[in-house]
Amino acid sequence: MSRLGKFEVLDHPLIQHKLTIIRDKNCGTREFREVVNEIAELMAYEVSRDMPLEDVQVETPITVTTKKSLAGKKVVIVPILRAGLGMVDGILELIPAAKVGHVGMYRDEETLKPVEYFVKMPENMESREIFVVDPMLATGGSAIMAVDALKKRGAVAIKFVCLVAAPEGVKALRTAHPDIDIFAAALDDHLNENGYIVPGLGDAGDRLFGTK
Ligand code: URA
Repeated sequence: MSRLGKFEVLDHPLIQHKLTIIRDKNCGTREFREVVNEIAELMAYEVSRDMPLEDVQVETPITVTTKKSLAGKKVVIVPILRAGLGMVDGILELIPAAKVGHVGMYRDEETLKPVEYFVKMPENMESREIFVVDPMLATGGSAIMAVDALKKRGAVAIKFVCLVAAPEGVKALRTAHPDIDIFAAALDDHLNENGYIVPGLGDAGDRLFGTK
């Protein structure tokens, strides 16, 4: 049986401070984009805490010694298009050798269900650590479908990383995929009737890309 994943709010003071900056409706596109990446970078430090290590020999100027080095295949960052793209560069600052997969979905107007339209992943997904990123975990529909798409391609070690989560989204994702870890910078109050997180920060994609 697979392990039970955890839900963790990464509430480091720097993360809380930066999140408050981007919640402000007067925060412009440029600052919003910069600070989203800064938060993603800080979160990546905690999210990667249990990355596997192996012993390697290293020759220092003084002697030969055995020390730790990252083991296994490269991490994969998987942004959910399009808002997830806003978190990629920040994580790459910390894990520059990571590979980047992409998953895109749209909402079918009739069924209201998310439909996969683009999935492109590196090979050997079954033996990689995967960070699925999307700034907002609202209903959980896209997150569930993105994780479905990854598992269909063999992925096992999946972590979902968002900035703001709604309790409804956390519950839905944990129910659909109890084995994955979920990390958020904040757990907000609820979803409103339009599916926005309250208090939230509005439409993350529009705010990242300056669209309306
Ligand atoms: N997606 C967003 O960008 N914002 C929300 O509040 C909910 C979903």
